[in-house]
Amino acid sequence: MNLSPENHFKAVIAHAKEYGFVFQSSEIYDGLAAVYDYGQMGVLLKNNIKDYWWRSMVQWNDSIVGIDTAILMHPTTWKASGHVDAFNDPLIDNKDSKKRYRADVLVEEHAEKLRQKADKEVSKAAQRFGETFDEGLYRQTNPRVVEYLAKADALMTRFVTALEAGDLEGVRQVILDEGIVCPLSGTKNWTEVRQFNLMFGTKMGSVAEGATDLYLRPETAQGIFVNFLNVQKTGRMKIPFGIAQTGKAFRNEIVARQFIFRMREFEQMEMQYFVAPGTEMEWYESWKAARMKWHHSLGFSPSKYRFHDHDKLAHYANAATDIEFQFPFGFKELEGIHSRTDFDLKNHESHSGKKLQYFDPERNESYLPYVVETSVGLDRLFLAVFSTAYQEEELPDGSTRTVLNIPAALAPIKAAVFPLIKKEGLPEVARALFQRLKREHYVVYDEKDAIGKRYRRQDAIGTPVCITIDHDSLIDGCATLRYRDSMEQERLPLDAIPSRLRELVSFEGLLE
Ligand code: GAP
Repeated sequence: MNLSPENHFKAVIAHAKEYGFVFQSSEIYDGLAAVYDYGQMGVLLKNNIKDYWWRSMVQWNDSIVGIDTAILMHPTTWKASGHVDAFNDPLIDNKDSKKRYRADVLVEEHAEKLRQKADKEVSKAAQRFGETFDEGLYRQTNPRVVEYLAKADALMTRFVTALEAGDLEGVRQVILDEGIVCPLSGTKNWTEVRQFNLMFGTKMGSVAEGATDLYLRPETAQGIFVNFLNVQKTGRMKIPFGIAQTGKAFRNEIVARQFIFRMREFEQMEMQYFVAPGTEMEWYESWKAARMKWHHSLGFSPSKYRFHDHDKLAHYANAATDIEFQFPFGFKELEGIHSRTDFDLKNHESHSGKKLQYFDPERNESYLPYVVETSVGLDRLFLAVFSTAYQEEELPDGSTRTVLNIPAALAPIKAAVFPLIKKEGLPEVARALFQRLKREHYVVYDEKDAIGKRYRRQDAIGTPVCITIDHDSLIDGCATLRYRDSMEQERLPLDAIPSRLRELVSFEGLLE
């Protein structure tokens, strides 16, 4: 069934709660904004996504090792990393709607609208001219397309220049000159622009006076940078090599909305790849391609992904791109890939007074390595998988079903085992198979309700296969496997089921 993107998203959020995937944090106290808990199904899906990432990055990659660093770090870390001075969002309020916005988001969305107008002209022309259409030439020569694109570029250049110069009045002027209105009130009645630091502060120590001010880490990356030499020396790592970790990060997001897309407490999966200076652009391109390939391996349409190169670079980067995903609310950042130069190591060296140089035996010289980073939000990946997998299907017999087409390797429950009826020796055989499969996978046993209803329950949580024991099973030692996506059935000997299931849900399946 074709739901509008808005209704699809509403259905996704309701389904996530109803089936134990995601709950609002502290719900009985009316919740805590932009903080969420994962339920009994959600934690399994989340762990599987994390596991697939970890295996791809660490287990299957000879040049990458994994670590797990603390959330709390020495406060100078955040001075050195630039987060104390530069981890800010420029905010602007609309006086009529009283709504607060990120100024960069308002401007970027406006520029995107101009680019979309250009795209519209191009696709109209493509239809008109058919096969002879030369898109590249049209983009360069059609006056209207050229004008839209030039306007978008000029707008972004002006905005980025003002922001990088710390000229907040200039940033506001861009918004006013472009006639950008508040999406709610429709007015241009804007306040001044202010910078707001996104780090959460906390204190360590038993007495208030002697307590040290700390921050909850806003990214996991710094735990990797400060451990760079520990890992390099103890692991006898040779450049190029990477360090990966997954873990919680915290940001006091001002505009936190869209369910688990933008949270105040979230989980990152990051990898820092340390390379020789001068080779970073090659590695940047190679990681861009590798990460896009990894996302495609999940099996969703490649048209759901695109790169978005940054116009405004973060304080640490000399090149950066986002892998954007088509969420129900449009294309948004899923993963960031950044060439971070030697910014972090250099600053940690100067703030700590400790040498962080690497001796390169091949070049016979010491240097500070450059870093290419891949950083993906686990919760965003969860939302990408969950919202794309959620389907309300109309079946050939006119009935409907809600199904989660989650890649089998990531599904929370891998198989459900049913006796056709609750008697005549069928539960005993079904339970024995359940016990056997359970040693290797998360599986469930269900004997309640009619078989059709049991299928629907499993479809709704994304279980890739249901296995039914019937009266014939007692005679021929076989069971019926019913597959979630095709709803096709297959009869297999009981002894062949463990290996069939293993093959169906293996991570290698995704790589193929
Ligand atoms: N170490 C680099 C870094 O942190 P980032 O682009 O700020 O870069 C990386 O964040 C990824 O972390 C994003 O692509 C996104 O998937 C995830 N992320 C960032 N802020 C988030 C938030 N408030 N809620 C959920 N995920 C977030």
